[in-house]
Amino acid sequence: MMASAPGKIILFGEHAVVYGEPCVSMAVNLRTKVSVQKSNYFESTVDGYSAYRQPHIRTALGILWKDGPVEITTKSEIPSAAGMGSSAALVVASAAALTKLGGSEVFEEQIARTGFEVEYAVQGTASPNDTSVSSHGSAIMLCKNKRDDLKFLWEIEKNGKRWFVHHCEFPDFNVVVGYTGARGRTSEQVAKVKNLVERYSFTRDVVKEIGQITEEGAKALAAGDLKKAGALMTKNHNLLAILGVDTPELQKLVNAALPTSYGAKITGAGGGGCMIALTENPDETAKAIESAGGKAYKVKLERRGVYVE
Ligand code: MEV
Repeated sequence: MMASAPGKIILFGEHAVVYGEPCVSMAVNLRTKVSVQKSNYFESTVDGYSAYRQPHIRTALGILWKDGPVEITTKSEIPSAAGMGSSAALVVASAAALTKLGGSEVFEEQIARTGFEVEYAVQGTASPNDTSVSSHGSAIMLCKNKRDDLKFLWEIEKNGKRWFVHHCEFPDFNVVVGYTGARGRTSEQVAKVKNLVERYSFTRDVVKEIGQITEEGAKALAAGDLKKAGALMTKNHNLLAILGVDTPELQKLVNAALPTSYGAKITGAGGGGCMIALTENPDETAKAIESAGGKAYKVKLERRGVYVE
């Protein structure tokens, strides 16, 4: 049984989403494939090692599998620990493959829910964003309320927090992801922003402004107005920099990408990890990012979420 799930990038709204503002993200055409078969070994394995060494798969097995050892192999095109949703794609693809191997149908909502439970259990805290967009594919908007102007997908609740997941219908566009090569620790960056938000009222205004930009950015992308969407991305980036999650390496890649793109910003938690640029010249933008010391990935909107073969 083989299942495949895409990675993701956040287009608008990271960090502000922690304070109830909306967040827009899209699936990208870099995928993780997970194959699962029943095995005769005495314990389950992942890529030849004991499954106990892989916390996400160990947890997925604990939730979904009661039927003896399995042999799991994984293959991923998504760089790990870079903010591109590699762990969510692994969890979503594993959950889908195990569900199918167990004889049940695979439904994207169910996989998004199970995937979130796994991420939550492994990381201690998580939003359902990455597992939802990896399951659904395409683009999603996570909001604290249900919206009438977007197609509602599902609602997820955990420890008194509620998220409403909506589909965003966007046209195709090109994004270049620039990876700094530095690992950004999400929990550290979230804690850093929390400290600022608790101490300084102006940072609460920054968070609200990011929320407004996210709303406008989603509308601009839906209308195919890339020029406007790009400008809003750069604005979002500058606000993230005020929140302290930019680094000299990220800023260098953003500066390098801007002359050939509509706009550029940090994507994900920052403090390392990746930036993105919205561009009509992906080759040139990728070249500029690589010249500035980043690793460039030319990506597109991936409409296909999780599937099983
Ligand atoms: C990290 O990819 C996105 C953050 O907003 C954290 C979160 O939403 O859990 C920084």
